[in-house]
Amino acid sequence: MKKILATIILGAGTYCASVAGAIANEPAPTAAAAPEPTKAEVLARGQQIAGAVCVACHGLDGMSPIPNNPNIAGMPPQYIAEQLQHFKEGKRKNAIMAGMAAGLSPADMKAMGEYYFAQRPKYNAVARDKALAEKGQKIYRAGIAEAKVPACAGCHGGAGAGIPAKYPRLAGQWPEYSLTQLKAYASGERQHPVMTTITTRMRDNDILAVSEYLAGMRTQ
Ligand code: HEC
Ligand code: HEC
Repeated sequence: MKKILATIILGAGTYCASVAGAIANEPAPTAAAAPEPTKAEVLARGQQIAGAVCVACHGLDGMSPIPNNPNIAGMPPQYIAEQLQHFKEGKRKNAIMAGMAAGLSPADMKAMGEYYFAQRPKYNAVARDKALAEKGQKIYRAGIAEAKVPACAGCHGGAGAGIPAKYPRLAGQWPEYSLTQLKAYASGERQHPVMTTITTRMRDNDILAVSEYLAGMRTQ
């Protein structure tokens, strides 16, 4: 398809050049720059890579079959692209994802973001401990005043859907994954000034409670 397009464009260029040259004796215009890929082409590229590489761990639709691998359907596209860049650079440390991101160009990363953002979250995780989830809900909505922990909803959205461009979706995430990430922020293994400050002010049980709550959160 690309080849055919290129041939047509180049062909048209040659034709115009000869006409322009014949009429005004002007120098031939330079070949047209490659056109920006359309949204459909970007999504197709994302799907191609997702199906060939990412499917085993994140599902074709961004719903991961395993609790240690995050669900990424419906994540803000810029957030996904940025995390892939961080894995590639080693700013976010994970041996598996470093390998996965190594071969992706910035355009591929953008395509992965657009592709997964276009997938509708289907929900596979559940909150099992009701009392714990209720405690988590309070923290999510109101924070912990005495510990100066802000409401999570302020940045991740009242319904947990995330806010493009920077704030990841949290609703329906595997609790094992959320727990690991919150502990990683607290220990400094995953670096982000805001999330590190917040998590170091939380007790282990607060982190557990909020992870449990997120797993059962439902939104589109
Ligand atoms: C072998 C399993 C595996 C494969 C294949 C894989 N991933 Fe991952 N992915 C993971 C794991 C595990 C994590 C969590 C890493 C961590 O703890 O920091 C992750 C994290 C991510 C994240 C961060 C999500 C977030 O919420 O911050 C993105 C984005 C991502 N993967 C995209 C991809 C893309 C795109 C591909 C294909 C090019 C891919 N992954 C292939 C296992 C995998
Ligand atoms: C001031 C804004 C802000 C507030 C408040 C906030 N977060 Fe975040 N959170 C972020 C940003 C930004 C990121 C992405 C950081 C990165 O790039 O690693 C993030 C990342 C996360 C992640 C990792 C998501 C993933 O897919 O890997 C989790 C889990 C999380 N936050 C939970 C919480 C919880 C729970 C609270 C409330 C106790 C909270 N956040 C409050 C801004 C915020």
